[in-house]
Amino acid sequence: MLFQLPKLNFAYKDLEPYIDSLTVETHYTKHHQTYCTNLNKAVNELPELVKLSIEQLLIKLPTIPEPQKTVIKNSGGGFYNHNQYWSTLSPKPQKAPTANLMRAINATFGSLDNLKSMFSGTAAKLFGSGWTWLVKDRNSAIDIITTQNQDSPITLSYRPILALDLWEHAYYLKYQNRRADYIEAWWNLVDWKAVGDYYFNS
Ligand SMILES: [Fe+2]
Repeated sequence: MLFQLPKLNFAYKDLEPYIDSLTVETHYTKHHQTYCTNLNKAVNELPELVKLSIEQLLIKLPTIPEPQKTVIKNSGGGFYNHNQYWSTLSPKPQKAPTANLMRAINATFGSLDNLKSMFSGTAAKLFGSGWTWLVKDRNSAIDIITTQNQDSPITLSYRPILALDLWEHAYYLKYQNRRADYIEAWWNLVDWKAVGDYYFNS
């Protein structure tokens, strides 16, 4: 197997009460695992893809032939996006950005509260299944973007630094149609240390 799920930094129950244990377990062991399994199948069909990292696969996506291209877009994107999602969540998060990251946030959004408000508003309005992201662009500016389905910011030349999964499988067991409540709860788990590490080291 080429790609494997990253180990979670917490137990399934540790994200409660914000995200329930069954949702975390199902999301990780079923949804995320299926993306990983299907990605591996597609990559194994084309020898020239086997040596590439997941980031390289998603950057090269437009040049990959079908049918592997579609599988890597969906399952490779799903694998990578979920890696990002889990890695910035913590039951004991660093509650605020470091001073360096705060300077970059203030330069774009004016304040952390403004960033959160704009991010949550963008996430609430996303139609269908997809993601809202904080990303770093080529000039190290921070922006908020959304992607549909499992499309990945990497393919759009952005480096994601914070990922919010807005597929119903991420919240429906606990929140049903109340997506805004899930978004508000999710902020309690965002580890600003991990976000800062992505911003400064990737
Ligand atoms: Fe998901």
